[in-house]
Amino acid sequence: MKVLGIAGSPRRGGNTDLLLGEVMRGAASRGAKVKTIILNNLTIAPCQHCDACLEKGKCKVQDDMQMVYRELEQADRIALASPVHFMGVTAQVKAMIDRCQAPWARKYVLKIPPLGNRRERKGLFISVGGRKAANQFEPALATVKSLFRVLDITYAGELLFPGVDEKGAIAKYPDALHQAFLAGQKLVEGTPAE
Ligand SMILES: Cc1cc2nc3c(=O)[nH]c(=O)nc-3n(C[C@H](O)[C@H](O)[C@H](O)COP(=O)(O)O)c2cc1C
Repeated sequence: MKVLGIAGSPRRGGNTDLLLGEVMRGAASRGAKVKTIILNNLTIAPCQHCDACLEKGKCKVQDDMQMVYRELEQADRIALASPVHFMGVTAQVKAMIDRCQAPWARKYVLKIPPLGNRRERKGLFISVGGRKAANQFEPALATVKSLFRVLDITYAGELLFPGVDEKGAIAKYPDALHQAFLAGQKLVEGTPAE
């Protein structure tokens, strides 16, 4: 069981990083092989809508997204973490998502598995917003659910924490980190995270 963590915040050691770390620790405690990639350290160009992927099912842009495709192909579980930035996912995450137009083309145009194999995958979404409004996660949720649906990743739930702004402030909510640890365990066990 391989779990891929995708850290979408530009802030290292920030709130979503801490939560993602606990999710991965929880998954590892159940024997999963875990790996986290930090999108902000990668070079991922925005989709150019060149339509090359419609013919070959592959993106012709040669940058770090090629490695992300391979990691997604090999993963059984995906934990995607993004803080809310202007009501949506971060630019780092959105660039990665838009580059999933290539898997989209594989699935809907070429009628082949979007991630190259028929592995059963499940995905968890982790987010934090500085504002207290609970509905602020809706745009990001819609985007991430759309991504998971296109990639045939079963949506396994979410961890959403409003009203957490300062770097690392999530650590003042020990229950949040504990919830993240449990969600990591559940993700691997296959039961939906709460
Ligand atoms: C560019 C930018 C845009 C933001 N937009 C929002 C927003 O729309 N709603 C919100 O609640 N918080 C917003 N925030 C605050 C972050 O969501 C908040 O600080 C969060 O805790 C950051 O998580 P991180 O430490 O994992 O990066 C924004 C922060 C930045 C830098």
